[in-house]
Amino acid sequence: MSNVIAVVNHKGGTGKTTTAINLAAGLTRYSDVTSSCLVIDMDPHGCATSTLLGKLDGAPPARSVFDVLRRAITPQDGIASTIYDENIDILPSNPSLESMAKTQITDRLAKVVDALSTSYGWIIIDTPPNLGVLTQNALVAADYALIPTQCSGLAVPSLHQMKTLIERVQERQNVWLQLLGVLITQKDGRTPLQRQVRRELGQVFQAGDIFRTIITSNIKIEEAPANFQSIYAYDSGCLGASLYRDWIKKEFLKKHQRLEKLKVEKREAAEAGALAATTAEVVAEE
Ligand SMILES: Nc1ncnc2c1ncn2[C@@H]1O[C@H](COP(=O)(O)OP(=O)(O)OP(=O)(O)O)[C@@H](O)[C@H]1O
Ligand SMILES: [Mg+2]
Repeated sequence: MSNVIAVVNHKGGTGKTTTAINLAAGLTRYSDVTSSCLVIDMDPHGCATSTLLGKLDGAPPARSVFDVLRRAITPQDGIASTIYDENIDILPSNPSLESMAKTQITDRLAKVVDALSTSYGWIIIDTPPNLGVLTQNALVAADYALIPTQCSGLAVPSLHQMKTLIERVQERQNVWLQLLGVLITQKDGRTPLQRQVRRELGQVFQAGDIFRTIITSNIKIEEAPANFQSIYAYDSGCLGASLYRDWIKKEFLKKHQRLEKLKVEKREAAEAGALAATTAEVVAEE
């Protein structure tokens, strides 16, 4: 079964796509879980799609996640190989995905992910900068939410809304969704903001939910997608590569392992509870 991660933040330009694609590439390299990875691009702008398919100005893909969501094609038929990494496939975006955003359907992607979950070790979902239907579909389909945020005081207050949406999805549609963590990105090495931003983040999230690693601003991180490469393939020795690599190895995978354990315990408790309730019902009937 796949581990499904939705990369979310309704603020624009916080590093969602950059983190999603470098996380995907990092997981195929550094995780013990089956190395194959699927990226699902739920942003109609399709930045992840352009990078992974190697087409910056070309026509949008003929078959996309939108066709899968509207059930015109099967999930398997929507998938494309990437030039970005041989172990990463993509369910690409298309501008027409915008029309899905106008519906009220929030559980369609979960069914698509279910159908694909035996084929990939990891499924990473990139999302648009809003709290609408496309982001909600990602959260309903995911095991984990990962929130990249900029190192700016202005970025923090709006995260209350993100947290509220995650809690609403947990209550109503996906009890198994867990917050994987908040990743601070694009910190300018010169600003002393880090402590203040951490303090402010601490008012919205628990301290353990904020990753210690900070992905500082690094020109190579910006250049890599224009070359259709992950940061590790583009320049494995640069600061950006070592930051993402260290974050994945030292924090992401360990946190994921801890939360997986918690999930198993929660499932077992739920099953034991259900069994006890059934037994009580049978006894009452006798
Ligand atoms: N650590 C970094 N150092 C330098 N540039 C970065 C870094 N992270 C992201 N960027 C650049 O910042 C811009 C915004 O990043 P990205 O597209 O990943 O954000 P996003 O949250 O996906 O944006 P949107 O909300 O528009 O989808 C991009 O040009 C990207 O190359
Ligand atoms: Mg993006």
